[in-house]
Amino acid sequence: MSCNIVVLASGSGSNLQAIMDQIADNKISGRISAVLCNRPEAYALERAKKAGIPTIVLDHKSFDSRPAFDKAMIEAIDPHKPELIVLAGFMRILTPEFCEHYLGRMINIHPALLPSYKGLNTHQRVLDAGESVHGCTVHFVTPDLDDGPNIIQAVVDVTSEDNAETLVNKVQQQEHIIYPQAVAWFAEGRIKMIDQRTTLDEKPLGETGYVVDSRT
Ligand code: GRF
Repeated sequence: MSCNIVVLASGSGSNLQAIMDQIADNKISGRISAVLCNRPEAYALERAKKAGIPTIVLDHKSFDSRPAFDKAMIEAIDPHKPELIVLAGFMRILTPEFCEHYLGRMINIHPALLPSYKGLNTHQRVLDAGESVHGCTVHFVTPDLDDGPNIIQAVVDVTSEDNAETLVNKVQQQEHIIYPQAVAWFAEGRIKMIDQRTTLDEKPLGETGYVVDSRT
């Protein structure tokens, strides 16, 4: 059985690419039925078109309110009958109604070790705080921003040579490993959100989710 996926993106779409590549390699038992972007210039749209995936552009600026935009997204997404919504660098805060509508079947990737460093500018904030570890997290989406049970995290080290740019690269390399992994698990029915926790093969994961330690 192949999992029907809709991807939402706002930017370059490198995570979308990583997922498309693993679908093409039969490592994910799924298919992407549409890619929706809120920015008409997003490079993610080009990537989708190259792969022959239908694209939807809904420019949030042409809507009066956040609820109106989210309602239009639901109306555009639902005809595809997705089993999984993948937020791949989708830079919009979602309404509680939108999150509830896809509860348990919408996942996001965040460039930090959640629950630490929610929000924006994570790499600089990690450097400013003098942290020795950093990373990224895939989690189920619930109505609270960057909240919701963790599925998988990758941990990288932060050295005295790192700056915000090197951290972006280090963390993104890991994103491209753990996001396709999480999608593959979901597609195989191995991960579920039950009572605000993630289960992997029916066993509840701890707060961090499954941890991949990529420190050198
Ligand atoms: C990633 O760093 C992700 O963690 C964040 O947005 C970025 C998206 O990058 N949520 P891309 O568009 O997938 O290249």
